[in-house]
Amino acid sequence: MRDETVTGALAPSPIPEARRQIEICNACRYCEGYCDVFPAMTRSKAFADGDLSHLANLCHNCRGCYYACQYTEPHAFALNLPAALAEVRQDSWERLARPQIVARVFHKSGLAMSGVLVVGLAAILWALAALGKGQGAGFYASLSHNAMVAIFAPAFVFPLISIALSLRAYWREVGGSAIRLRHLIAAARSAGELRNLSGGQGQGCNFEDGDRFSNARRRWHHLVLYGFLLCFAATSTATLMHYLLDMQAPYGLFSLPKLLGLPGGVMLAAGTLGLMVLKLRADPALGVARVWGGEMGFVALLFTVAVTGLVLYGATGSAWVPGLLALHLGAVLAFFLLMPFSKMIHGFYRFAALIVEEQKRDPAA
Ligand code: HEM
Ligand code: SF4
Ligand code: SF4
Repeated sequence: MRDETVTGALAPSPIPEARRQIEICNACRYCEGYCDVFPAMTRSKAFADGDLSHLANLCHNCRGCYYACQYTEPHAFALNLPAALAEVRQDSWERLARPQIVARVFHKSGLAMSGVLVVGLAAILWALAALGKGQGAGFYASLSHNAMVAIFAPAFVFPLISIALSLRAYWREVGGSAIRLRHLIAAARSAGELRNLSGGQGQGCNFEDGDRFSNARRRWHHLVLYGFLLCFAATSTATLMHYLLDMQAPYGLFSLPKLLGLPGGVMLAAGTLGLMVLKLRADPALGVARVWGGEMGFVALLFTVAVTGLVLYGATGSAWVPGLLALHLGAVLAFFLLMPFSKMIHGFYRFAALIVEEQKRDPAA
């Protein structure tokens, strides 16, 4: 049964249109070398809803198949496979989200929702810091360590529970089975290289420009992904230093949190900026145009997390620290709280799709 939209109307399913297009592609097979989607579709003659969800999350929206296709409009077949799969993928992220309504609102109005949440949370944190002034030393003179843990621990755990519930439903829908280490390693390698955005031969994708192949989207995404992982490693190291070694923030330039966090923050800021510029150049009709704002909201939120973190570091020791700290923590908190509902969910679903694809290809699985 279809779910209701935010306005209460019954949303039309994108599945029949995707099925029509996939059946044409499965007969044509001209785009076979572009990505994992085409070899995967050759396993079936008829496509169940779960098969289409799987193919949709395997697609990296490189757009190569659209620009190569002889059946796009004005041909009567009116093929637009990147858009048809993006609709199914988007539908899976919204339909399987828990609670579903928050995801539907974010994908529609993500820019506004992120903005309101960052400012609101920053204001609350700033007020908390003002009330508790003088209860800590150094960095924690602004906001006590205990207050930070009390706020951030649930803000981290609840989104993870929501994502786990949503992924479990997805896993069942697409027929995932027991995870083997070799499937995990192969999926991690594919995600780490973004192989499905490479155009098959490494020439790149056609995301922002149909007339030429480019690896720009891949490179900006590498900066975002590895920058994010470095920032995560920096925060984890700082937590360990605090609890195991009794060393409190702020840390010096040659400490692990700074050596990991500074390049991570710069990479994250540069990568998100690059992705935003490419997004402004790309044709929205080859994705899901109605969620363009939500997608931009997600990238802008990541950019805000990175830039406020860097500016906060630059302002160490100045009177700007309490305000900047509240803003940075507000952005981080908003990012984690919105993880199950924003486009951040793409990382989890796409990684799951890469694992399931390895399982389906493996004759021994
Ligand atoms: C499992 C690993 C991941 C995979 C396979 C993956 C894959 C992709 C792909 C294929 C795209 C381009 C297509 C699209 O826009 O839907 C994309 C976009 C993006 N990804 Fe990832 N991603 C992963 C993890 C992450 C992580 C951890 C982050 C950052 C925290 C991230 C941030 C972004 C951003 C900012 C965009 C641009 C969104 C947009 O333009 O709408 N990704 N990702
Ligand atoms: S996108 Fe067009 S050219 Fe490519 S396989 Fe499908 S029908 Fe053939
Ligand atoms: S848009 Fe790219 S990744 Fe998606 S099906 Fe077409 S060729 Fe494959």
